Amino acid sequence: MSQPSSTPAADAADAAASAAPPADQQAQAGYRTVGDYRAEKPVMRARNVDVFYGENHAIQSVSLDIGLNEVIALIGPSGCGKSTFLRCLNRMNDTIESARVTGDITLYDEDIYAKQMDVVMLRARVGMVFQKPNPFPKSVYDNVAYGPRIHGLARDRAELDKIVQTSLERAGLWSEVKDRLEEPGTGLSGGQQQRLCIARTIAVSPEVILMDEPCSALDPIATARIEDLIDELKRQYAIVIVTHSMQQAARVSQRTAYFHLGKLIEVGDTDEIFTNPRHKLTEDYITGRFG
Ligand SMILES: Nc1ncnc2c1ncn2[C@@H]1O[C@H](COP(=O)(O)OP(=O)(O)OP(=O)(O)O)[C@@H](O)[C@H]1O
Ligand SMILES: [Mg+2]
Repeated sequence: MSQPSSTPAADAADAAASAAPPADQQAQAGYRTVGDYRAEKPVMRARNVDVFYGENHAIQSVSLDIGLNEVIALIGPSGCGKSTFLRCLNRMNDTIESARVTGDITLYDEDIYAKQMDVVMLRARVGMVFQKPNPFPKSVYDNVAYGPRIHGLARDRAELDKIVQTSLERAGLWSEVKDRLEEPGTGLSGGQQQRLCIARTIAVSPEVILMDEPCSALDPIATARIEDLIDELKRQYAIVIVTHSMQQAARVSQRTAYFHLGKLIEVGDTDEIFTNPRHKLTEDYITGRFG
């Protein structure tokens, strides 16, 4: 047997520390997240995040890592703060006048709320796909080329063509639109539009992809395509998905975070959360007694 690398006491202290960082502030908020909020390969780290909309304390002392090569599902009843937390991760809350965000959020150890952070660049690095597909009123080609153009990612038209094609291929849409590149993006079906929005997001080579109920406007076939795509994308990216479908969370995610009234109640491996939830509120939600 190999030598233990630390003493049992140190292990216990480590284990306590793993649950501890937000403890002071969480204790003030009157709770403590169950489970380990850290990821194996963290790309983003949120620590002690609070969000207020005026007087409304919408997120309370949430700490959570977003990990590379994994999908984390944010679940919980309507109004519990899933979208609010998601928007903290690429500063979309900046666009809401009453919103105030405190705490620390880093992207590879860079403070995303630092004064010198370029928010346009941040939103390319941490891309977002919304519930309702929202292609620009432009051609299919220009929808995907938009980001690479404003960020100067292509030196010439040939390079831009290549980015557009690769992004559409990776989004599983190329074969359906390769002869319709000059047609308006808004003329595609709902499922195609959502894949177009995903192609637009990945065209700028993001590090993290945030998805807020990306399939809720889609039929089961289009949903299955997006879920396959999410599975494929996680090989390269860190992905956060908000979903009201527990089946979807179970199918696509490796970690699940359960929110309730602005608090992160429990986080852990998706299998564990769905088969063996530790917190009563999580159990009530996943067994359908609440929400
Ligand atoms: N733009 C906003 N201005 C003011 N309050 C807001 C705003 N957006 C959300 N809130 C409030 O913040 C809280 C959390 O809302 P949020 O939209 O994050 O919940 P959610 O979990 O995404 O809900 P749903 O499942 O219905 O999408 C709610 O009390 C909501 O009313
Ligand atoms: Mg929401």
